[in-house]
Amino acid sequence: MSSVRLSFHFTRLTQSAPRSSWRAAAIGSRYMSQNISTTEEAAVSLDIEPSRLTVTKTMSPKELPASKSLMFGRTFSDHMLKIRWTEATGWEAPSIEPFGPIGLSPSATVLHYAQSLFEGMKAYRHEDGTVTMFRPDMNMKRMNSSAKRLALPAFDGNALLECIKELISLDRQWIPKEPGHSLYIRPTFIGTNGTLGVAPPTEALLFVITSPVGPYYPHGFKPVPLHGTTEYIRAAPGGTGAYKLAANYAPGVVAQKSAAKQGYAQNLWLHGPEHWLTEVGTMNLFAVIKDKDGITELITPPLDGMILPGVTRDSVLTLARNHASGIKRLGGLPDVIKVSERPINMGEIIQSSKEGRLIELFGTGTAAVVTPVDRIGYNGGDVTIPTGKDGMGPISEPLWAELVGIQTGAIKSNWNYVVAQ
Ligand SMILES: Cc1ncc(COP(=O)(O)O)c(C=O)c1O
Repeated sequence: MSSVRLSFHFTRLTQSAPRSSWRAAAIGSRYMSQNISTTEEAAVSLDIEPSRLTVTKTMSPKELPASKSLMFGRTFSDHMLKIRWTEATGWEAPSIEPFGPIGLSPSATVLHYAQSLFEGMKAYRHEDGTVTMFRPDMNMKRMNSSAKRLALPAFDGNALLECIKELISLDRQWIPKEPGHSLYIRPTFIGTNGTLGVAPPTEALLFVITSPVGPYYPHGFKPVPLHGTTEYIRAAPGGTGAYKLAANYAPGVVAQKSAAKQGYAQNLWLHGPEHWLTEVGTMNLFAVIKDKDGITELITPPLDGMILPGVTRDSVLTLARNHASGIKRLGGLPDVIKVSERPINMGEIIQSSKEGRLIELFGTGTAAVVTPVDRIGYNGGDVTIPTGKDGMGPISEPLWAELVGIQTGAIKSNWNYVVAQ
């Protein structure tokens, strides 16, 4: 039955899009095999097809904001990308349109059951004018994995990236020129069918908006104090912590408010009776400890289903491992460094702190890249975390410098995806 549906769609696709038929057919068959293996009942769908993209430019372009006035996520560029999907017709033609409201029925499932997921990535303007994105393939992979978790359809990440590239090229004047600035890109995918049953969405909308942003720390690195949070949880085994679902974020606001009320900047999410460290606010977490033999160990909790597989986390691990193995040495890091994805709990943090072996603790994420931590409020007291003289620790600083060097084009890397030259 499935293969009958495939040949029907294959024929329609080659007829309606002859210029790209070979590519679309390849994408279509790839999509179909994903679809069949994950949802037996789902209709075979056309995939996202960049050659069908239409562009409607705004008649009233907005004035570009002064870069120094930018606040995260408050200003949006002139255009957005929209791609609708229905179970009956598959992915419709992508369109770039003026930024504006999206019509939704008050009964849309996204509003009732949080059928919503998103991504966060950035486009950077290099000194020579080249515009790149940093490892966007990782975001596409994660977005597909989030979609699967919500029973939303899969899609070809490269095809979506092609459409995003057109959006950024069109709005490239919105990427601020000043160092440390970038264009934040927010792909979002929601269930839109207007029926109140809790079921896989039969209609959905994928849209992408972009927002110019300044450096997270305009006045240099400022270490943050964390509240070791045990009264609320962000994620649990078998839950959704490993996916970038909207539903993971709304319940964190109360916990964040509570931490702020007690004088802390972020939550340090602790799990289970042993108080395992998981994440910091909306960042992944790294600790650096000298082991009993004096070897420096860079530790991050393993991807056990509760941790979001961060692009920055993976990049930090890769850079540190490349240094350790001699593939690419980074000045400033110790010659010998052990890189571990392993559980670490508050007991180990406190013990290593008491023994003078705790070197630093930091969060990683697209927004700030690296956020140093100077204190953890825990069990009614504070654990002090060492920080370097300019706010960053001795291990995070060289890793941060390499990452930012790559993102801004000062260091050549195949992690950069060229959007426009
Ligand atoms: C819960 C959570 N953890 C970690 C991260 C860091 O991920 P990335 O490095 O891909 O930005 C984010 C931000 O996206 C997040 O929301």
